[in-house]
Parts: sequence; structure tokens; C-alpha cells
Amino acid sequence: MRMDNNDQLSQDLSAIMVIFGGTGDLTHRKLMPAIYNLIRDQLIPEHFAIVAVGRRDKTEEEYLSDVRNAITKYSRNKIDEAIWSRLQEMIHYYKFDFTDLSGYQELKLYLDQLDTVVKSGGNRVYYLAVAPEYFETIVQGLQASDMAVKKDTWSRLVIEKPFGKDLKTARALNDKINEVFPEKSIYRIDHYLGKEMIQNIMVLRFGNSIFESLWNNRFIDNVQISLSEKLGVGTRGGYFEQAGTMRDMLQNHILQVLTLVAMEPPINLKMDSIRTEKQKVLEAIEEFTPEFLKNNVVFGQYGKGMIDGAPVLGYREEQNVPSSSETETFVAMKLHVNNFRWAGTPFYIRTGKRLATSSAEIVIQFKSLPNILYFKDQDLQEPNLLVLRIQPSVGVFFQFNTKDFSSHNGIVPTKMDTSYYNPMQGNTPEAYERLIFDILRGDATLFSRWDEVESAWTATDRLIQYRERRRNNFPNYDAGSMGPVKAFELLAKDGRKWWNL
Ligand SMILES: NC(=O)c1ccc[n+]([C@@H]2O[C@H](COP(=O)([O-])OP(=O)(O)OC[C@H]3O[C@@H](n4cnc5c(N)ncnc54)[C@H](OP(=O)(O)O)[C@@H]3O)[C@@H](O)[C@H]2O)c1
Repeated sequence: MRMDNNDQLSQDLSAIMVIFGGTGDLTHRKLMPAIYNLIRDQLIPEHFAIVAVGRRDKTEEEYLSDVRNAITKYSRNKIDEAIWSRLQEMIHYYKFDFTDLSGYQELKLYLDQLDTVVKSGGNRVYYLAVAPEYFETIVQGLQASDMAVKKDTWSRLVIEKPFGKDLKTARALNDKINEVFPEKSIYRIDHYLGKEMIQNIMVLRFGNSIFESLWNNRFIDNVQISLSEKLGVGTRGGYFEQAGTMRDMLQNHILQVLTLVAMEPPINLKMDSIRTEKQKVLEAIEEFTPEFLKNNVVFGQYGKGMIDGAPVLGYREEQNVPSSSETETFVAMKLHVNNFRWAGTPFYIRTGKRLATSSAEIVIQFKSLPNILYFKDQDLQEPNLLVLRIQPSVGVFFQFNTKDFSSHNGIVPTKMDTSYYNPMQGNTPEAYERLIFDILRGDATLFSRWDEVESAWTATDRLIQYRERRRNNFPNYDAGSMGPVKAFELLAKDGRKWWNL
């Protein structure tokens, strides 16, 4: 289902998309397969071109062959020659070292010329699929060559995560970018928001009276958000050492998911109405004082262990990771959203690498009923659970109690799982397809607005500083487990448990 807020969207999607980092991993694994599938779904305009900027010496044929291989490997749909032929006509490889500011003028001329051939109307998407240290350099290059904002056309800047490494650096980066691009032209990617099921959170909440009427602290006992990965850091140890789980997952994906679960209904589906409600949730998160954190956060780092029956290294043995690393690969915490809807209902979040499962799920645990008629032994009452499955399965799981027909008076939890039987949930578009399409039509709803990023950093900075002041006794969980023992104790001391359904 598509959210309909057309009144604010571009009528003309024609554009040249310039991908800085055109030879990189992200472009090959995500962006090109996404564009391929958008062509397949007839969502790419007729007047469209892609200029892939890279440093490597490659002929156009070589570059196209790399892209074709990547699509064969990563696309959700098999290569169809007609679609591939359309895509390859659109792609142009442009060799350019983007740290060389004198080269931007030539790039501008190239793009202007291409405009006349493609008839893309002067519109531009500048996609920065590059390491964050280059964001500023490229934006400066675009400004110096007068490519950033042009009259009677639109230009949009797309920035990958991480946006800064703390509040201070994020602010400095944002100030620099804002000197060149206005906020409305900046698309900060959080690819989690492109996932179908994440968008479905709003539909489920605001499209079903049964859920919306119960969606508050009177009926919900607790909310659990778990984003777990079996993968370790692989070859990205150098990056991860600087980031850690709090920068890599919590500051962006986890807090974004939390805002969608907890936000008030927006007054309409316009992007700023939605983003304003999300921002209010971030502002309502109870302050993370050191006293609060002492009892409510658990950090972890994986040691060696077994994943799918095979031995794997501990984090400190990974490539480019120091043997005394204090970087966290796991975080679990309890937090409160202190507003009328949520005061008193805890949100438990956990995310980590090298865990037993790779999955993303939100569990809404409803309050139990008084044990007066049934469940006289309190332990027997299974709570109602609503599970929003984000990946790998996509769909909704709901647990409720019914009579056990095989016995005289037993009661059993019944489980309904839409991801099992709903074919609509099957071949879901990759997150990047939705995001790229939204960039072209000028819908920034699924991208983080600056005030959201700022609030998320304010909260995360406190966590990072707290972790950096502690000695953590890492490693403290085995690869292939579900994290440190203390993460289980965090809920057990509240009389609760993590649900793995
Ligand atoms: N990979 C992912 O799945 C993923 C997921 C989420 C976010 N991200 C983010 O996306 C961004 C890109 O990641 P990546 O994994 O694609 O990185 P990558 O594979 O290392 O690619 C980096 C790209 O930058 C180009 N580059 C570097 N210096 C250059 C220069 N001076 N002039 C021209 N081109 C230059 C490289 O070109 P040459 O190789 O031709 O030198 C290459 O195309 C990062 O911000 C990352 O955090 C990536």
C-alpha cells in the first residue's frame, strides 16, 4: 500500500542521478539492483540517466559488466534482457577523483551536456555512496562549481549513514551541508525505514481500530525491539571499531523504529506531519542519567563461538580490531517514553552481532487479565502478543488464548501468523527501491529530518560517554548465543522475559 501524499511531490521525476562511490559495495549490492527493479516496475522515468563516479580506470563496458554481475547476484528478480538493456543505456561511468576540487567544473559540463541528450530537465540527485569523511568535500565541490541549487530545477542530496560520529560532529557536518543545500533537499538514508514492514507499522496502528484503541500504557505491558544479526564484523573491523553498536544500530535504526511504534497519529500523511510526531517521541525519552543507565543498560562484545555449526572468531580476533578492544557489539536497554500514552510502559531494546538469529522484530506484549475466571495459577496465563516481523520473515504474528479442544478445560495460546499465508508479503521490494523512488518524487517521509538526527545523537551520546567511562569486562557473550547473561537479567528483574517467537 502506498501512502498517498501526492500534493507535495514532484510531478517531474526526470533527472540525472550522480552516484559518488559508483564502484563501491553499496552501489553494486543495493543501488543498481534497486534501480533495475524500479525499471522493471515501470517507476523510473523515461528521461533518466545515472552517472557513476569512481576513481578506478574502467571502460564503460567493464563497468557495465560489473553492474550486470552485481544485479545477477543481488537482485530480487532475475535478469531480463529487455530491462537490462534499458538500464545499461542509462548508465555512464565517469572517472574522477572527487577530492580534486578543480574537476567539478568539468563534471558540471559533462552533466549539462548529458541533460540535453537525456532531456532530464536539469534535475539532479547527488547520491553520496562514499565514506562519511568525504561528505563535506563533495558538497563543497558541488557548491564551488554551481551544481548544488539551480533555478527552475530540483537538486537533492542523498547521504548514507553514519551522519556524524556524535552530536558535535553531526552538527558541524549539518551546518556545512546546510550552507549549500536546504533541509528539504537533504535525504539522510536510514535504509530500515525503506523496509515494507516498517512502513506497515503505521498502517497497522492507524488503519485498525483493534490495535489503535489498545496502543497505550493502559493495555500494553511492554514493547520489545530486537534487531539481531548472525554476522560478525567481517572485513569491516576498522569501521566498526570507530562506530560500535550504538552508532551503527542504535542511534539510527533502533530509535527510528521506536519512534514509529510510539508516535501519536499524525494529522495527515504529509512528510513533515509524520516527522514532527516522530521527533516528539525522541524528545519524550527519559533522560539517560548515569544513575538510570547503571541499572538499565547492558553492553556486550562477542567472544568466539559457533554459528550454524561452524566455529567463528571472537570480536577481538577479527581483522583490524585491537586485541584489547572495548568496542561494544551488543547493547540491550530499558527506556521510557515519558508522555501520556507511554508513561510506565517500558521499551526494551536489544541489538547485536554474532547472535543466534538474524532477525528484526517488534513484540508488543499486552497486559494480562486478572486471574479470576481462568488462569488461577498465574504462570499459566500466556499474554496476548503482537509481533511485527520485519526480517527475514515479513508479516504479523498474533497470539491469543482459546479453549484447548483436545481437553475438557484447558486453555491454549493460539498463534496466527500472516507472514505464513499472505502471498502479498512474499517478494517485497528491497528497501532501497522504495527509498530511491521516494527521492525521485521528492517524498522525504522515510528519511531522517535534522531535528530527529540531533535528538537521536543527544540520547546516544550519553550512552556512548557512559560506556567509554566503564570497564566492561569484554568479551562477555559467546558468538551464537543471544547476548550477555545480564541482558536476560535486565528483564527478569522486572518479572519479564525476551520473547523469541
Ligand atoms: N556497503 C553497504 O552495504 C553499506 C550499507 C549502509 C551504509 N553504507 C555506507 O555507504 C557508504 C559507502 O560504503 P561502501 O561499502 O560502498 O564503500 P566502498 O565499497 O569502500 O566504496 C567507496 C567508494 O568511494 C569511492 N572513492 C573513494 N575515494 C574516492 C575518491 N577520492 N574519488 C573518487 N571516488 C572515491 C571508491 O571508488 P574507487 O573504488 O574507484 O576508488 C568507491 O566507489 C559509506 O558511507 C557506508 O557507511 C554502506
